[in-house]
Amino acid sequence: MSRSVNVAIIGSGVVGSAFLGQLKNLKHSIHFNVIYLAKSSEEALFSKSYDPVDLSTYATAPTQTPLSLDELVKYLKESAKPSILVDNTSSVAIADFYPTFIKEGISIATPNKKAFSSDISVWNEIFKNAELPGSGLVYHEATVGAALPIIGPLKDLITTGDKVEKIEGIFSGTLSYIFNEFSTSEKSDVKFSDVVKVAKKLGYTEPDPRDDLNGLDVARKVTILARISGLEVKSPTSFPVDSLIPKQLEGIQSANEFLEKLPEYDSEIQKVKDEAFAEGKVLRFIGQVDVKDNKVSVGIGKYAFDHPFASLKGSDNVVSIKTQRYVNPLIIQGAGAGAEITAHGVLADTIKIAERIAN
Ligand SMILES: NC(=O)c1ccc[n+]([C@@H]2O[C@H](COP(=O)([O-])OP(=O)(O)OC[C@H]3O[C@@H](n4cnc5c(N)ncnc54)[C@H](OP(=O)(O)O)[C@@H]3O)[C@@H](O)[C@H]2O)c1
Repeated sequence: MSRSVNVAIIGSGVVGSAFLGQLKNLKHSIHFNVIYLAKSSEEALFSKSYDPVDLSTYATAPTQTPLSLDELVKYLKESAKPSILVDNTSSVAIADFYPTFIKEGISIATPNKKAFSSDISVWNEIFKNAELPGSGLVYHEATVGAALPIIGPLKDLITTGDKVEKIEGIFSGTLSYIFNEFSTSEKSDVKFSDVVKVAKKLGYTEPDPRDDLNGLDVARKVTILARISGLEVKSPTSFPVDSLIPKQLEGIQSANEFLEKLPEYDSEIQKVKDEAFAEGKVLRFIGQVDVKDNKVSVGIGKYAFDHPFASLKGSDNVVSIKTQRYVNPLIIQGAGAGAEITAHGVLADTIKIAERIAN
């Protein structure tokens, strides 16, 4: 008889729906039995008898009120099979519950950065619990660079005895696009505020572009990589993060008013761009982890026209990992966002877990 595993899924937004589509079409020797699907915080599909949720009809099937997280743990523990929780939300409340899921033997696959990039106490509890006998596994490749293979290879290097010296990269698709358009190796007069407006129009930014420009999303990803590399980063606000929001516009209420006023500050960043150009360099918004010097930072960096970061296209992410073994840094580059791409990262993690725990 083929092996099987239970899957409980929370969230059916942009990534969640793509994940459900890929799981529905998955061909694998292990059977993935979806026994719980919380489509949103209001609507869930599950049954007391653990009947599989039909992924072809989930969008229109009758729903119930979702279980509380305590009830979900109990529900999954009482099933006869090992369970994987797939968290496709950005919920802090669910993230804060990961230590309990893991302690209770429930494994986790997720693109949700919150648990891994908030206060260090949550991180410590997750990985302490993951070492307990009978605990769940935790895979979160899609929390940095979507499905780009960054976390897995980094952990493999460290586990096999390599020493990370420095990690630097462009970890925001939105800020990658903005700087790739704004600062190029050919002279251009394009204005920063105009690029931000186009990025918003193309749907590359959050509804309020300040949520990208404040650098916090990059700080969260850098926190995760720094912690994997062995640095005790207290929180994503415990190191220098250069926000791209002019100080005077921080208090403004609406995103529209912010975008209207942004052109008034174009000259400041234009000056930095022109100075870099005169040195044969472009500007990029980067995160850095200097393991040797125990330093983490996020902000604008200058890169020579022939540096790999300077030739980045579109909204790609790129990361450079310098280790004792990789004296010439290991460079990983590609799309760092998008529903199908992110979902495949989460599904690949779900499969890796299933291959270890299915029975
Ligand atoms: N989009 C990308 O390209 C990308 C790339 C890398 C990583 N990620 C990460 O992937 C995760 C999902 O992103 P997304 O773009 O799919 O976001 P999204 O479209 O906003 O979807 C999130 C979904 O989670 C649901 N949700 C929130 N709290 C819930 C709860 N307590 N119980 C059940 N459902 C709940 C929301 O439903 P309601 O609000 O209606 O309850 C919503 O449907 C995030 O952590 C994000 O950072 C996304």
